Amino acid sequence: MIPTTPTTPASPASAMTPMTPAGPGRRGSASPAETGRSAGRRGREPGGPGALLDAGPYQGYVYAYPHKTAYRPLEPRPPLREVWADEPQDSLFLYLHIPFCEMRCGFCNLFTRTGAPGELVTAYLDALERQARAVAGALDSPRFVTAAIGGGTPTYLSAGELTRLLDLTERTMGVDLRAVPLSVETSPATATADRLAVLAERGTTRISIGVQSFVDAEVRAAVRPQKRAEVTAALGRIREAGFGTLNLDLIYGIDGQTERTWRRSLEAALEWEPEELYLYPLYVRPLTGLGRRARDWDDHRLALYRQGRDHLLAAGYEQVSMRMFRLPGAGAAGAGSGSGGAEYCCQRDGMVGLGCGARSYTSRLHYSYEYAVAAGQVRAIIDDYVRLAPQEFGVANVGFRLDGEERRRRHLLQSLLRAEGLDEAGYRDRFGTGAAEDFAEELARLAERGWLEQAGAGRLRLTAEGLARSDAIGPALFSGRVRELMAQYEAR
Ligand SMILES: C[S@@+](CC[C@H](N)C(=O)[O-])C[C@H]1O[C@@H](n2cnc3c(N)ncnc32)[C@H](O)[C@@H]1O
Ligand code: SF4
Repeated sequence: MIPTTPTTPASPASAMTPMTPAGPGRRGSASPAETGRSAGRRGREPGGPGALLDAGPYQGYVYAYPHKTAYRPLEPRPPLREVWADEPQDSLFLYLHIPFCEMRCGFCNLFTRTGAPGELVTAYLDALERQARAVAGALDSPRFVTAAIGGGTPTYLSAGELTRLLDLTERTMGVDLRAVPLSVETSPATATADRLAVLAERGTTRISIGVQSFVDAEVRAAVRPQKRAEVTAALGRIREAGFGTLNLDLIYGIDGQTERTWRRSLEAALEWEPEELYLYPLYVRPLTGLGRRARDWDDHRLALYRQGRDHLLAAGYEQVSMRMFRLPGAGAAGAGSGSGGAEYCCQRDGMVGLGCGARSYTSRLHYSYEYAVAAGQVRAIIDDYVRLAPQEFGVANVGFRLDGEERRRRHLLQSLLRAEGLDEAGYRDRFGTGAAEDFAEELARLAERGWLEQAGAGRLRLTAEGLARSDAIGPALFSGRVRELMAQYEAR
């Protein structure tokens, strides 16, 4: 049962009340197996969700639930036509993954490889084309309402290769790029005028560029070969090409970074008046140094987070999530902009992923190809992918099946980790049960710590302090099953 512990206000101006207790016995029609209650009990075990909440603010970035390390080979591999048969297909997200970069940054654990020769890029685009045909054939008059090209670094592709990619998006997948938001990631060195011209001409609404820091010594410390002059030139070219939304990624917690140098990066970023900014706490795995250092580093990152948040709020930005800030009114630029576009609902709607690092989501199955971070394995997965025959693209390979509890959990996680929080009526409409009852123990743990509040009628949201702890709260909301699968994967 959720206690009545008063919670900390997010800001003096916001009107909110302490979280109210959910009455016992008001659980609606969900069976115990479909609710979070059974998983919630495990929270009292050492290492369970309660302990995770207190283990430090930086346990892991939850950009998707469940994480790919919880996916397992699907036996037998289901045909995509079956996987998508009963799914709504009128509000889909198309994601294309380009697993190539011109550099490997010291901190990055994304699925990507460097130095891919031209022939490999061509073979990858050939494979994407075969996959697109197979996937389009398995769908039933799909309607894509938003699209994104991510990486790696999609602009590792030349202008001609980008044209080919956009052609297959339009012709094979049937995405109307003139009508839907399209987001594309880029890096300073690859954001060249010819590539940007192709992207602008074909309807890109949002460009997201990794900057990380405007201080050269810091990018060096993060093992990213980049000069500030190169960043400035790239931002100039992007603004000239005229995309509706520019997003900049910055990182805090880099060795040698101080409040003063962090402010310099924030100010330098704001000179470009970006419609969006992502502020990422640095993660380095495995964490080197002793526990003592880890705790100091946590405190340091938390202080830099608060400084960054306050700086951007004072500059007129609104906070969308722990990492994401945007100028009011810049809301529907596309995937990555927090909403995925005006028509796309990230809690509910499906995603079709193309490329060997992309995931696809239906309401009951999340699937992808094998996952890896280590350079050798990434290369092997890409090499396997480019050799796949057309029929191999018609099935799902590795994945995770979501039962009723997992669907509810995913909805809860994806809502609570956004500043606007969870719309309780929307949850009830979707599942027929109440979130406060389904996840009573989990929510009580957050409320006890002053990290959750009842914001107006029918809305649960993290407090300012809760939002700062998103990377502890997210993992603590994982089900026991997902935690076990992830632990088995890590142990391999
Ligand atoms: C796909 S990259 C962005 C585009 C392009 N590849 C680049 O680096 O310029 C995604 C972003 O994730 C963030 N990121 C990646 N690994 C990280 C880590 N270990 N800690 C913090 N942020 C990280 C970086 O800010 C990076 O810009
Ligand atoms: S941060 Fe960007 S450029 Fe660097 S390795 Fe990761 S995806 Fe590639």
